[in-house]
Amino acid sequence: MAGNGSLATVLGLILVLTLFHNPITVAGQSIPAVALFTFGDSNFDAGNKQSLTKANVPQGFWPYGKSRDDPNGKFSDGFIAPDFVAKFMGIPIEIPAALKPNVNVSRGASFAVADATLLGAPVESLNLNQQVRKFNQMKASNWNDDFVKKSLFMIYIGANDYLNFTKNNPIADASAQQAFVTSVTNKLKNDISLLYASGASKFVIQTLAPLGCLPIVRQDYNTGMDQCHETLNNLAKQHNDKIGPMLNEMARTAPGFQFTVFDFYNVILRRTQRSLNYRFLVTNSSCCGVGTHNAYGCGFPNVHSKLCEYQRSYLFFDGRHNTEKAQESFGHLLFGADPNVIQPMNVRELVTYPVDEPMREFWLPTTSSVSDSTSSSSHGYEFY
Ligand SMILES: *[C@@H]1O[C@H](CO)[C@@H](O)[C@H](O)[C@H]1NC(C)=O
Ligand SMILES: *[C@@H]1O[C@H](CO)[C@@H](O)[C@H](O)[C@H]1NC(C)=O
Ligand SMILES: *[C@@H]1O[C@H](CO)[C@@H](O)[C@H](O)[C@H]1NC(C)=O
Repeated sequence: MAGNGSLATVLGLILVLTLFHNPITVAGQSIPAVALFTFGDSNFDAGNKQSLTKANVPQGFWPYGKSRDDPNGKFSDGFIAPDFVAKFMGIPIEIPAALKPNVNVSRGASFAVADATLLGAPVESLNLNQQVRKFNQMKASNWNDDFVKKSLFMIYIGANDYLNFTKNNPIADASAQQAFVTSVTNKLKNDISLLYASGASKFVIQTLAPLGCLPIVRQDYNTGMDQCHETLNNLAKQHNDKIGPMLNEMARTAPGFQFTVFDFYNVILRRTQRSLNYRFLVTNSSCCGVGTHNAYGCGFPNVHSKLCEYQRSYLFFDGRHNTEKAQESFGHLLFGADPNVIQPMNVRELVTYPVDEPMREFWLPTTSSVSDSTSSSSHGYEFY
């Protein structure tokens, strides 16, 4: 039996250990030691594309990784949003590319691959369905059911489907567009259901960016500097409008299904339209590339691409991927923003939300879209 003196020592030690071993303690709740799994396209690719092609991929070359002195297979000058989310979750290692040999997947993995789509079979890539299958193959030998259920599944996919559709059907009418959006979002729902059937229960779905405002799209479609390609923005909007209601329904019908929706569309649009509020000087053309919007060919050995002097003043690093500075702000928004940006809860809340408990709140349509609001500065989300 310990005397009073040593009890005090033990208590003091426990206090010290608690203070120093749980640096991320929010509102009395520490973040559980779970994993982060990411799925989708180049935005979340942590180096998988390099394993699926024999060709040299540009993202393996300078100036990708410029801010970290090292190209790492990611489409950025450094880290990408999931890296920051992982860090905020207290995960001590970088989330590795699942397809690379000998990686440590104890705290998650990226299954996302550049060029990934929902429909079709992209060349030297994996569609979302194939990514989910890959997860299932690896699951048994790496992660148990309880761990999978508590872990986070982040998905960003669909942009390549709409870029491809618009390229092949430049004059598609409204009903052809609607039919395509329906088939893309049905496929997404199907693949999310497969992940749920594999034991996943916590989903973070990111809406599509305003695709028509990506520098490479402005450049390819000659929209000029201050115009976006509205057809692509409309397709992205139609797609995004289906996400929240679809997930609400899944949460109502599938026991234990929990989710949140990150409003990436308006996050990008706000930065594009009011760049200085977010400390970006350039949002309509990229830091690295060639062309009217400096949007093509970053990292290509045969392209003499131009590199901006200071990447942190740019929203886009290449024609369609954001700079590390922007990615870090997305990480902060995902982890801690309020429902104007991510709803019904943020990642911090989702990862601490008890498993198997029904969600108390659902996704609601918002009026936070910047373009149709002239008095937006009176709203609270001006600085998100
Ligand atoms: C994998 O990473 C974890 C930290 O998340 C560490 O505890 C473990 O030792 C690592 N495993 C190997 C084989 O390096
Ligand atoms: C792109 O569109 C074409 C024509 O509709 C289709 O055949 C092809 O499978 C699509 N590619 C991908 C990767 O979805
Ligand atoms: C960038 O694009 C936005 C939206 O298309 C536009 O409002 C803004 O004026 C453009 N900025 C520049 C510098 O052209």
